[in-house]
Amino acid sequence: MRAARPFFIRLFAGLTRPRLTVLGNEFAGEVEAVGRGVTSFTVGDRVFGFDGSRFGAHAEYLAVPEDGFLATVPAGLTYEEVAPSTEGSLYAQTLIRSAKVRRRHDVLVNGATGAIGSAAVQLLHGLGARVTAVCHGDHADLVRGLGADRVIDYTAQDFITDDQTYDVVLDAVGKSSFGRCRRLLRPKGLYLSTDLGPLSQNLALPLVTPLLGGRRVRFPIPRTPDRERCGSSRSCSRPGRSGRWSTGPIRWTRSSRPTGTSRRVRSSAAW
Ligand SMILES: NC(=O)c1ccc[n+]([C@@H]2O[C@H](COP(=O)([O-])OP(=O)(O)OC[C@H]3O[C@@H](n4cnc5c(N)ncnc54)[C@H](OP(=O)(O)O)[C@@H]3O)[C@@H](O)[C@H]2O)c1
Repeated sequence: MRAARPFFIRLFAGLTRPRLTVLGNEFAGEVEAVGRGVTSFTVGDRVFGFDGSRFGAHAEYLAVPEDGFLATVPAGLTYEEVAPSTEGSLYAQTLIRSAKVRRRHDVLVNGATGAIGSAAVQLLHGLGARVTAVCHGDHADLVRGLGADRVIDYTAQDFITDDQTYDVVLDAVGKSSFGRCRRLLRPKGLYLSTDLGPLSQNLALPLVTPLLGGRRVRFPIPRTPDRERCGSSRSCSRPGRSGRWSTGPIRWTRSSRPTGTSRRVRSSAAW
């Protein structure tokens, strides 16, 4: 997105250069001040969250709405562990909710060790779904630890050749297509992807496939994150399970100050 790829992102982020210059969506830190009327957080609380709509999390201070994508840090976890857990879990939850996954649904997650994939495995396991995870064989134990019931090593087998069929195929790394995964889906099965797919087909297929009956494609766009959704990041941020989230430690810079308004939490990074 920061590199203006795909190109149409410029329509939203700035035509010739980025409109927002302080980057960063994910944050963690200590609440330094609260606005009048804020009851959920107090000064000194260790919090973390995500705001994908306006960037700015690389600043030293950040103003966050009390009802935004914000939660207290679970005991025993560091800022470095929790901050990167937010974005992937937001996307994972959006996909899983859109598919209305329930207990005993069979779900295949391709890219199960990625930021989105590893969150998806944990959330699906929590819902009682039966999860088949596709990842590099070296990471099989890791994804089993996250809750996967079966693991397919993509270096040994193309998951498309799997004998089992699924209620949902969730491609969390954008390496497949609906056409290739169709045979893995049960008659009313759903194909979800984090990426646009060949020729951006995942934008059109969600409109076309429901008209044909049978197997469908969904490409849900995350809603503005809220506190309820941050709760899912919190539940994903368990000790020993956060090593593969996203891109690693985030550095904050002294480049912006909040415009503190009422009902806003102001947090500052402690690292
Ligand atoms: N992160 C976001 O917020 C976001 C938002 C929108 C869209 N997306 C899209 O979602 C996709 C995933 O993003 P991410 O941030 O979750 O990725 P990520 O953290 O970089 O992880 C990608 C994972 O894919 C796995 N992988 C690589 N080649 C594979 C293959 N051939 N088959 C199966 N798994 C393979 C790798 O695991 P192994 O080590 O096991 O190979 C890696 O853990 C990207 O394509 C991105 O464009 C991401």
